[in-house]
This record gives sequence, structure tokens and C-alpha cells, in this order.
Amino acid sequence: MGQKGAPVDIVCFDSSIEAIEPDSVHSVTLPGGAVMPVAAFGTFHSDWAQEYIKDATAEAIRLGWRHIDTARGYENEDVVGEGIKEAIKKGYISSAEDLFITGKLWNGHMAKKDVEPAINSTLKALGVEKIDMYLNHWPWPNVHTPGCAGDHRNPDAVPYIHEDFMETWGEIVKQKKAGKIVDIGISNHTEKTLDLLLRDTDDYSRPVLNQMEMHPLFQRTELRRYMYERGIVCTGYMSLGSPQRPGRDRFKEHRADMMDPRIQAIAKEAGVSPPRVCLNWAVQRENKTGGFVAMATRSDWIVENLKAAIEDVLTDEQMLRISGDDTPEHPGIDANNRLIWGQVFLWPEALGDWRVLWNDSQVFETRDDYGKFKKSFQEHYKVWQETAVSVPR
Ligand SMILES: NC(=O)c1ccc[n+]([C@@H]2O[C@H](COP(=O)([O-])OP(=O)(O)OC[C@H]3O[C@@H](n4cnc5c(N)ncnc54)[C@H](OP(=O)(O)O)[C@@H]3O)[C@@H](O)[C@H]2O)c1
Repeated sequence: MGQKGAPVDIVCFDSSIEAIEPDSVHSVTLPGGAVMPVAAFGTFHSDWAQEYIKDATAEAIRLGWRHIDTARGYENEDVVGEGIKEAIKKGYISSAEDLFITGKLWNGHMAKKDVEPAINSTLKALGVEKIDMYLNHWPWPNVHTPGCAGDHRNPDAVPYIHEDFMETWGEIVKQKKAGKIVDIGISNHTEKTLDLLLRDTDDYSRPVLNQMEMHPLFQRTELRRYMYERGIVCTGYMSLGSPQRPGRDRFKEHRADMMDPRIQAIAKEAGVSPPRVCLNWAVQRENKTGGFVAMATRSDWIVENLKAAIEDVLTDEQMLRISGDDTPEHPGIDANNRLIWGQVFLWPEALGDWRVLWNDSQVFETRDDYGKFKKSFQEHYKVWQETAVSVPR
């Protein structure tokens, strides 16, 4: 057991735990023919665990994970790269080619001139020649400072402006043509922003995947089906309810999927752990058409999580109890329990309401459209402030 001075039970790599055969992991075939294992090992972690990501990545590869989910925004591509090199050195894989690697363009690099350098840096840091799946991380270029608090706001933040997004997307497509990327996709896109993107792309340049928050208490079935019908594979993140997420994303309204009594009851019946129920649900739902990203820093959890993509442990009846079917008999357990509100990305005209980020009420085709909206908003907001009646207490 390697404990590395971390709090008890938190980081625990155990070389006696046996690896899973990678070929037994369920995969989906993407439109271009690439085969993507549906279980992706996540590499984002609250700041406390950055130092364990190298070992966790190498351990995940040893234990049979072949899909690694990375992002420039996690500020640890080099550490993940070291984990991959370690896995090669130790003979768990013969080269990085044995892996399916997902990478993401960070919000701060969405300007036209920044996309190619960002991709080049990612390739170098990870020590690979190409990225299997490259996602645009968020639909707008709004950045927050690393480790920021929940009340952080960026005064330069803007809503989705399709004209700007297409400039970024065009650069991503160029990198695909240059052979640095195999498949391209999006992350955190909504129905309206996806529609605009599909309207303006051809078969070669259209996204093939959307990575989005999805777990039993936040199922997003409608959006998932909408995207799937348009040829987009949906991969869920925070599949377990993200118990260690940064403080800025924690609110008293949130509930933890693995602590939910209905998930726990099903786990007991199936003879597995509650996290395993969450992950098996992610794999088995909707005819096994999507995937999940999950991370862990313990060998037993790393291997247990991967098993969800090998063995279907939930019966149809148990799946129905979680998913529901819109009938009074089977309501399911979805509670619209979104964990990432994204308030740190909000722009001024959202007036602090994080729901605006997700409800497509402020999506603009052009910079000019947004400029007009901003002007009118400022005029109305001024009048509203001047005429607002304060109620005496
Ligand atoms: N596209 C996006 O915008 C986006 C956003 C967020 C996340 N992601 C990706 O999704 C990945 C997963 O998200 P996440 O890490 O926030 O959430 P998560 O996978 O739902 O939760 C991971 C946490 O659960 C614990 N855990 C893992 N397996 C467990 C098990 N079998 N039993 C008990 N506890 C277990 C781990 O604890 P320990 O840390 O103690 O091991 C870890 O902290 C990220 O790493 C990242 O790659 C993408």
C-alpha cells in the first residue's frame, strides 16, 4: 500500500489488486471508425490531490483503463503525461497509441490565434503525437482564476456568441485536418448552441461527442436523446456526484448520488457498492449508447469503477426504478440536481442568475446582436434601477 502521507483512506495504491482485461471494456464506435472505451478515467481533481494524479493515471492504466480524460484547464497535463510515461516504462502499455486520449481546449485559449499553440502544448505535455478526441471545454471564452471562490466573477465574461464560437471551431477543425486530432467534440453545450453548430458544419467538421454533467440525480434524458438523434455520443461527468469537487461548486441544495437511499437500496440488492450502481446506470441506460468519466485515487475504487463498463449488474427493473418512464408508477429518481451551476462564468447581463447559463435565453448569433442586446439591457437596467420602489420595512 502506498499512502504518501495523505489522509487515511484517501490515496491508496495497492499493487496486489489484479488488472482488468482492457478488451473486455464496453466501447462505442464513432462515425469515423474510431473505437472509444465508454469508461474514461478522469484527471480533474480538487487542488489537494494534484500531486497524486501522476500515480493515479499510471495505476488506472495498470488496472486496465485505456481511455484517459484530460484538459488544459485542469492544469496538470504534464503530470498526466508523466503518468502515461510511467505506465509505458513499467510495461502496462507499449506506447501512448494504446490509449484513447480525450483533451480539451480551455476557455482562455479560444481566440483564433491561441488554438493551435494550445493544442501543440497539450500534445507536448501529454507526450503524444495526436489526441483521439478533442473537445471545446465550454461554449464561451470566460475564464476564472485557478482555485477561485464561488463568488468570483470575470467582468469580461460574455454569453455564447456563435460567430466567435465558429472562429474557434474552425481552428479546431484545421488541427484535425493537420492530423493532430482524430475526432472533435464539444462539452457543456446546450440544445440551441448545438443546433447552431450543426447548422454550420458539414460531415467532416461536425462534433461527434458532447461531454456533459449527468448522474442519477441529474439525468438529462431529453437533452441526451436530442443529441444522440443527431449523431452525438453523450459522455457524463460527475457520474458519482463528485464528492471532492472544489468549494466553489458546492451548494446546500446539492445531494450526493451515492448517498441517495434509493441508490443504496439497489446497491444492496445487486450486491455492489452505491458508486458502482451510479456507473452501471450510466453505461446501461439508453441501450448502452454513451459513456462516463470518473476518477479515483484508490486502486480498489479504480478497478471497481472500470468493472461498470464490463458487467451489467442492474436488472431492467432496477434501471427503471432509477430512470423512470414518465408514468406515476415509475417516477425515477431524477431530481434536476445540477452540481456545476457555473456561476463563476456568468456575464453581467445574466444578473447573477446561473440558470441563464444553461437555459438558452441569452444565446447570440453575432457580436453585433450581442452588442445591441447589451445596449438595450443597459438602458432598461438604468431605468429599472431609477424607478425601483424600495418597500419600507
Ligand atoms: N467537461 C467538463 O466540464 C468536466 C467537468 C467536471 C469533471 N469533468 C471530468 O469528469 C471527471 C470526474 O468528475 P469528478 O471527479 O468531479 O466526479 P466523480 O467522478 O463523480 O467523483 C470522483 C470522486 O469520487 C470518489 N470515488 C471514486 N470512485 C469511488 C468509489 N468507487 N467509491 C467511493 N468513492 C469513489 C473519488 O474520491 P478520491 O478522490 O478520494 O479517490 C473522487 O474524488 C473529472 O476528473 C474530469 O476528468 C469534466
